[in-house]
Amino acid sequence: MNHAPWWRTAVIYQVYLRSFADGNGDGIGDLVGVRSRLDYLARLGVDALWFTPWYPSPMHDGGYDVADYCDIDPAFGTLDDARELLIEAHGRGIRIIIDIVPNHTSHEHPWFRAAVDSGPGSPERGRYHFRDGRGAAGELPPNDWISAFGGSAWTRLTAPDGRPEQWYLHLFAPQQPDLNWDHQEVRRYFEQVVRFWFDLGVDGLRVDAAPGLMKRPGLPDHGFVPGDRFTANTWEASPLWDVDAVHEIYRGWRAIADSYPGDRMFVGEVPVKRPERFASYVRPDEFHTAFNLEFIKAPWDAGALRANIDSTLNTLRRVGAPPTWVLSNHDETRHVTRYGRSAAGVGSGTEIRDGSTDLDLGTRRARAAILLMLALPGSAYIYQGEELGLWEVEDLPDQVRRDPVWHRTGGLEPGRDGCRVPLPWSGRTPPFGFTGAAAQPWLPQPSGWADYTAEAEDSEPASMLTLYRTATGLRRKLGTAAAETFGWQPSPHGVLTFGRGDHWTCIANIDGDPLRIDGDVILASEPLQGQWLPANTAAWLTSV
Ligand code: NOJ
Repeated sequence: MNHAPWWRTAVIYQVYLRSFADGNGDGIGDLVGVRSRLDYLARLGVDALWFTPWYPSPMHDGGYDVADYCDIDPAFGTLDDARELLIEAHGRGIRIIIDIVPNHTSHEHPWFRAAVDSGPGSPERGRYHFRDGRGAAGELPPNDWISAFGGSAWTRLTAPDGRPEQWYLHLFAPQQPDLNWDHQEVRRYFEQVVRFWFDLGVDGLRVDAAPGLMKRPGLPDHGFVPGDRFTANTWEASPLWDVDAVHEIYRGWRAIADSYPGDRMFVGEVPVKRPERFASYVRPDEFHTAFNLEFIKAPWDAGALRANIDSTLNTLRRVGAPPTWVLSNHDETRHVTRYGRSAAGVGSGTEIRDGSTDLDLGTRRARAAILLMLALPGSAYIYQGEELGLWEVEDLPDQVRRDPVWHRTGGLEPGRDGCRVPLPWSGRTPPFGFTGAAAQPWLPQPSGWADYTAEAEDSEPASMLTLYRTATGLRRKLGTAAAETFGWQPSPHGVLTFGRGDHWTCIANIDGDPLRIDGDVILASEPLQGQWLPANTAAWLTSV
């Protein structure tokens, strides 16, 4: 029997609420919509759902600009809807994880409004980072820090009489002012928020921008030069990221989680450069898990994938935390598109726009990738729509784009709207059952998704949906027996072969020559020609 807590092995489905399913016909996904699709999710075989922020928000950054941490945005529903969702999901054996956004609030949060109204030097400003500017008239930002969405990380206020005023810090959009985590009230408040959601029954919290909360005292320059981008996973010893004092906050949160029954958990978003720094966030008294975002960035190359798997397993073994795996999320180009790009280093990120994309090749690789990912030990994240084989919508008209990345870079970077297009559920034309037939989805869907609806794929043996359902079902059985074992097996160049326990082997031919396989194939990403496994194909084998 395997008594490991659920989060060590869970398959977790990311719900980008706005785009999942619309229950009230306003073109925006909501909790009623999710509740109506719980059977679909149960059949997909997922253990938990992770909801991106559902809080009241002016939505300048898809809800990562929170105006009230203890309520639900009216566009998404009510707290009662959340309670019902918890009951109904738990009734199907599905757990619920929600996002918590502690680095910054919305500029419409009552604390920030009070800070703006109260003026320089007021206690209200002490909850954020307000500073006078540099330069003779304070006309220059207080330091050289940059925003993740382009431009300076500082915005200058204007007093009601029109005079320029102090600057405030925002590592993301100007509508997302950074909190001052040296302030005890900020700390106590978030501890209450964590308790509020655990009391309501949520099973876990995903911690947004986790390394950002503490800043080095005095807010010294980082040393950015013009043109630098916010690539936090390449920084070392930065004054704005991964400052050691941040760990004390998470140790406090962990103690709260441990005081609740039922294996409550944290998953941190921890983009940092050095593996040992990453591991420090998942020490036994901090987060339970953290996203392995470098797996997304690995190109479709056997050596690169193997290097990521090795480094992930070795790094986490030292602290006893399980690995996590993820191929797509709401911030990255969908992997069908990434893997279909002509450049060999298909990479990730939303910045890459040119070059040809072969969606057939990308789809083939995506099918192999999900078998690779779901065979690895640890927990795995599925981003809504990848189970249908959806691709990045790269031709959205400029006027419908919402992402601050697009707006703050003057359109130089397309941003993340293309991976957030509402899901196609049924029918042959948009809105594909996402919303009422007369309503407009908040982002337009491509007509080419007619063959990619959940309905169209439901009983199609060769569909991506069928592959995902079959794979999660087998993983449950095989994974339980294999526990957290993992071992590489010899394989030719371009091929990754590993065993899980005595009975489960995964062979992924990434970019090698066709390989003859011996053994009982229980699942393959493509129909096999005899026993030959070509490149861009993966198979699971069992032995008794
Ligand atoms: C990471 C989230 O995944 C992203 O969507 C958001 O824009 C930033 N954090 C800021 O909250």
